[in-house]
Amino acid sequence: MSHAGLDAIETASLDELQSVQLKRMQATLQHVQKNSPVYREKFKEHGVDASDLNSLSDLSKFPFTVKSDLRDNYPFGMFCVPDEEVVRVHASSGTTGKPTVVGYTQSDIDDWAQVVARSIYAAGGRAKDKVHVSYGYGLFTGGLGAHYGAERLGCTVIPMSGGQTEKQVQLIQDFQPDIIMVTPSYMLNIADEIDRQGIDPHQLKLRCGIFGAEPWTDAMRQELEARLGIDAVDIYGLSEVMGPGVAQECVESKDGPTIWEDYFYPEIIDPVSGEVLPDGEEGELVFTTITKQAMPVIRYRTRDLTRLLPGTSRSMRRMDKITGRSDDMLIIRGVNVFPTQIEEQILAIDVLAPHYQIQVDREGNMDNVSVRVERSDRSGSDADIIADLRHKIKTFIGISVKVEVSEPGSLPRSEGKAVRVIDNRK
Ligand code: DLL
Repeated sequence: MSHAGLDAIETASLDELQSVQLKRMQATLQHVQKNSPVYREKFKEHGVDASDLNSLSDLSKFPFTVKSDLRDNYPFGMFCVPDEEVVRVHASSGTTGKPTVVGYTQSDIDDWAQVVARSIYAAGGRAKDKVHVSYGYGLFTGGLGAHYGAERLGCTVIPMSGGQTEKQVQLIQDFQPDIIMVTPSYMLNIADEIDRQGIDPHQLKLRCGIFGAEPWTDAMRQELEARLGIDAVDIYGLSEVMGPGVAQECVESKDGPTIWEDYFYPEIIDPVSGEVLPDGEEGELVFTTITKQAMPVIRYRTRDLTRLLPGTSRSMRRMDKITGRSDDMLIIRGVNVFPTQIEEQILAIDVLAPHYQIQVDREGNMDNVSVRVERSDRSGSDADIIADLRHKIKTFIGISVKVEVSEPGSLPRSEGKAVRVIDNRK
């Protein structure tokens, strides 16, 4: 298999797309009912049978899958194929207890490579390009997922993985990659190192960054694009569904990731009632995989909050940039706050660097939030910066916070997914 140009389905009519989706969804439901004791039991308890799906909207009759289903069946209990057909596992550590394990057959790995190749192509990548991969290699899906996709597209892959920031910069300078795939927070760390080594980032060949694995704002996109002279586009994915490449933003429109709906069927639900919401309304993103063999998931609740938008550069629907995960939402004196909202306000202040950390403490019955920020230079007084940021956060988000301004380089730097919130209340 190879990838050259757009896949036909990327520009197909809605009818064609939906007929592919329906066929694949029916086959997936039959497959899990036949081969997974976990799903067989779930369907039975819920009073549904795979044959009850006659249209895409019938999917709402089926039960959700949640992270604890994977944990309860640790490590391989969700697999739907014999052991000899599983060629790879990945795992995500999570914050508590056992990791979540996922498995792939050879055809799953091929499909994954295909959607990542399609993603890099949508970002403007072509076979002639060199792709520097700084997502971590290993149990995390980022590195190997990006790697196989870039190879599938015919690119030259530089499998750097995460960490060794000085060496990252040396290779970016010596090998002159056209594209970098990395978390946006680690890109900032690499950009600081590029500055430290006295290299002009605009002299590098780098023309595109494919950033994901954590929430980031449009303000961060502008910062990264201006600083590095690149196009910055968003890649979305999660290990339970596949890995990176579930959705990818097209470079020509930069209007939120297009969901590769011929592999991953999206729904948005009300996170409290579980009701399916119409396109355009914000809620929790839910995915049903419609090609996966080793470990399909039916109506997997991602906990990511966003909305579905009509297709623009492709026929398939887009998702809005993720506001945050429901787990990362802070409720501060009754106000729901996401780290990305604070990020936006920090980036609106010129003398602040884009690095930040949010700490929450409980004093008595009060939740107190401190936002730690860092100067990018020494101009202006700390008092003015503090007053400015507090005012912005109070006006646009509605909470009062404490602001601590520290010297350039003093906040911890990310080498993968950034830790934005330190919650001392638990
Ligand atoms: O982070 C897969 C990935 C690797 C995606 C590289 C993109 C690039 P997990 O470790 O399972 O998988 O984490 C998945 O990360 O549910 C979101 O909360 C978050 N996430 C991933 N991509 C984005 C994004 C990988 N573009 C979890 N924007 C997801 C916001 C993202 N959040």
